[in-house]
Amino acid sequence: MKTVIVGPGAMGSLFAYYLISSGEEVWLIDYRLARVEKIKKEGIKIEGVSGEHHIKPRITADPKEAGKVELIIICVKAYDTEAAIKRVTPLIGETTTVLSVQNGKGNLEIIAEVVEKERVVGGTTAQGATVLGEGHIRHAGLGETIIGCPTEASSKRLEAVAALFNRSGVKTSTTDDLKGLIWSKLLINVGINALTALTRLKNGQLLDYPGTRKLMAEAVGEGVKVVEAKGVHLSYPDVVDKVESVARATAANISSMLQDVLKKKHTEVDYINGAIVSEGQKLGIETPVNQSLTYLVKTLEASYDKQIHLFQGIAGSSKE
Ligand code: PAF
Repeated sequence: MKTVIVGPGAMGSLFAYYLISSGEEVWLIDYRLARVEKIKKEGIKIEGVSGEHHIKPRITADPKEAGKVELIIICVKAYDTEAAIKRVTPLIGETTTVLSVQNGKGNLEIIAEVVEKERVVGGTTAQGATVLGEGHIRHAGLGETIIGCPTEASSKRLEAVAALFNRSGVKTSTTDDLKGLIWSKLLINVGINALTALTRLKNGQLLDYPGTRKLMAEAVGEGVKVVEAKGVHLSYPDVVDKVESVARATAANISSMLQDVLKKKHTEVDYINGAIVSEGQKLGIETPVNQSLTYLVKTLEASYDKQIHLFQGIAGSSKE
């Protein structure tokens, strides 16, 4: 299946590795010219749980170079989804499917504003990956990918994507409750991502401190109230318990939001804790913990160049 992957970050590079290794034609699309040139020359190195690999993918900054494709996988941050899908519309032919397993709420809706809903397949992945540098990633954890489709009309596309992933080594199953799947995964991110970004702890370490453990339970509890009020069926009977077990299973992971903060980048907090706040507002449900986490992460993002570091703080402090 000729595939375009938009975004050669951690997940995009990991999917590219699996698909290319199983003989699929894959193009990576990147808007950053310098990174395109680097990856063209040096390829992508993958290390970690799946071993050490090196791939030389086709990569371009000009989507038209790839021609029409059968599958487009959007692997950018949630705040870039709209720009990413708009850039690749020239690649959409009659049979093209668009897949998103991105973190955060709203990606599928954004994609479905640009392409017909029938083309869209969405889901979640528990594969863990971290960028170590441009064209260099660590495959941090193996996990299931689950996909579903927003309309019955895309069920053939869904089966085709699941078959492609499974034969390429990405263990994938399908669900007929896509909404439940996405909101359930979102609550895992609600419980882990902002707290790790603010404390700079690894996922598992959030469970070692009463304060972070309590905030995790409260943020997730607010999320559960909102999601249940929307009439969405959650995949786990005890969501807090599930979030704790994911934190344990991914104990050594640096969450995607902490990775962003460490690189002084924009985070997805608006699409995670912020999504609970905005949905809560529509339903008249208070979400003070998610609101505070969102404000704090956004303050952190806005003040990267103003934050005080130890030596600077001592040198600049008054003696009074
Ligand atoms: O965003 C992430 O880092 C991941 O979705 C998760 C599940 C929190 C594990 O690190």
